[in-house]
Amino acid sequence: MYFHIHLVVIFFCSQIVPTTIAKSYSSHSITERLHNVALKHSAGLASDLRVALGGVLLTRRQQPTNSGLQNRAVYCVSQQSSKNNGGAQVPLSGGGNGTTTTIRPSGTSGSGGTATSTTGGSTPSSTSSWTLAEAHQGSSFFDGWDFFTGSDPTHGDAIFINQSTANSLNLAQINGQGNAVMAVETTPQVAGTRQSVRITTQSQFNGGLFIMDAVHMPTGCATWPAFWTNGPNWPTNGEIDIIEGVNNYTNNQATIHTNPGCSLASSSSSALAITGTVVGGTDCSAADSGNQGCGMRSPANNSFGTGFNDIGGGVYAMQWDDSGIAVFFFPRGSVPSDINAGSPDPSGWGTPMARWPAASCNPFQFFKQHSVIFDITLCGDWAGSVWSSSGIPGQEQSCAQLTGFSTCDAFAQANGASFSEAYWEVSSVKIYQQSS
Ligand SMILES: *[C@@H]1O[C@H](CO)[C@@H](O)[C@H](O)[C@H]1NC(C)=O
Ligand SMILES: *[C@@H]1O[C@H](CO)[C@@H](O)[C@H](O)[C@H]1NC(C)=O
Ligand SMILES: *[C@@H]1O[C@H](CO)[C@@H](O)[C@H](O)[C@H]1NC(C)=O
Ligand SMILES: *[C@@H]1O[C@H](CO)[C@@H](O)[C@H](O)[C@H]1NC(C)=O
Repeated sequence: MYFHIHLVVIFFCSQIVPTTIAKSYSSHSITERLHNVALKHSAGLASDLRVALGGVLLTRRQQPTNSGLQNRAVYCVSQQSSKNNGGAQVPLSGGGNGTTTTIRPSGTSGSGGTATSTTGGSTPSSTSSWTLAEAHQGSSFFDGWDFFTGSDPTHGDAIFINQSTANSLNLAQINGQGNAVMAVETTPQVAGTRQSVRITTQSQFNGGLFIMDAVHMPTGCATWPAFWTNGPNWPTNGEIDIIEGVNNYTNNQATIHTNPGCSLASSSSSALAITGTVVGGTDCSAADSGNQGCGMRSPANNSFGTGFNDIGGGVYAMQWDDSGIAVFFFPRGSVPSDINAGSPDPSGWGTPMARWPAASCNPFQFFKQHSVIFDITLCGDWAGSVWSSSGIPGQEQSCAQLTGFSTCDAFAQANGASFSEAYWEVSSVKIYQQSS
């Protein structure tokens, strides 16, 4: 079985793969809307969607509208994946002609990449089996990302703008600290949507270690930010939500969404060896679970929102390898030195906040060709639907109570100043591939 899977992966990796931009839609047919609804979710939302989505998810097609077909760098985990031969992971396409900061793993024969390095080549220590493949930081942070444009597939009050517009409005910029800032428009009043930013890596990955360091994340009533990955043809190639939550939440929720066949063997934190709590079901299939997926909530109230920002943020790491998928959170001040040194070694990091073990969810069958995504939306399918809810960590009072507005939309349109904290400030995104 595993051998078969590797053959599939090799097929994907043996060419420059034309792919579509995920989650890019223009029209609003019923099936499309249902699919779009399903693209982002929450446990609280699932019951609303379950009936509507039944039977529709797996038959819907994607309709790329923004950019059509593109050639993308695809990183591979081959049959040699984990234990030897540093040549196992090869970026086979240059992707964006130098727009990505790509380092071809040493020892590979030059099969097709126009890979470049702008990262200064930190030398991995002998204990890390991970090699830096792509880094986004400093003045070139936005190189290698596409700006998704258009309305929000999850029905939020955001309109996503292109890079030049975002730059000119200071909604995407590099600040004086050299960090990338992505923000929501704070015009006092708007009639409908607020301009916002959603970016997707041009490179795609089959496995990897994804490490994101941020000093600030969007927070406040109506906000719904996420840092996540997904593959084409959702949910066939899976979605991994690394950081996600809404409104005033202070505890992160990490979630996977898949095709049928991926599950958790248990909902027990100790059995799963996680610090988090399973908040969804144990069937991770989008179709089977009303798109609830398998969500896990961090016990740390500094892992999201105000709590995260108050401590100067921290580092999230998502590990996707033969053992499965895991998400780690390290508050500022507790970031492992091997991460800071550029030679990350997850084996020394302790218990992750979330983990989906390979034994019940093959990580290379249900997840393929993932791009990394940041976005900020407002209201919509999650933040809007829980506007009047309370009892989630950080949300002791509902946003309806806190703001005096009975709907999320009305609040978002009338209170631009309340989005002064609705921004990502990201120091770096570093993507590693297994090397030896
Ligand atoms: C690659 O980018 C460089 C610098 O922008 C440009 O001069 C060159 O023509 C590009 N090459 C191709 C093949 O597009
Ligand atoms: C960016 O969006 C603006 C506003 O819609 C448009 O005028 C401009 O042509 C776009 N720029 C690019 C490079 O697409
Ligand atoms: C909760 O949200 C409201 C409205 O955005 C904001 O004024 C308040 O500061 C938030 N509270 C916390 C603790 O983040
Ligand atoms: C986190 O929890 C601690 C202990 O209950 C509390 O003192 C602190 O105010 C909380 N922080 C946030 C941001 O909610």
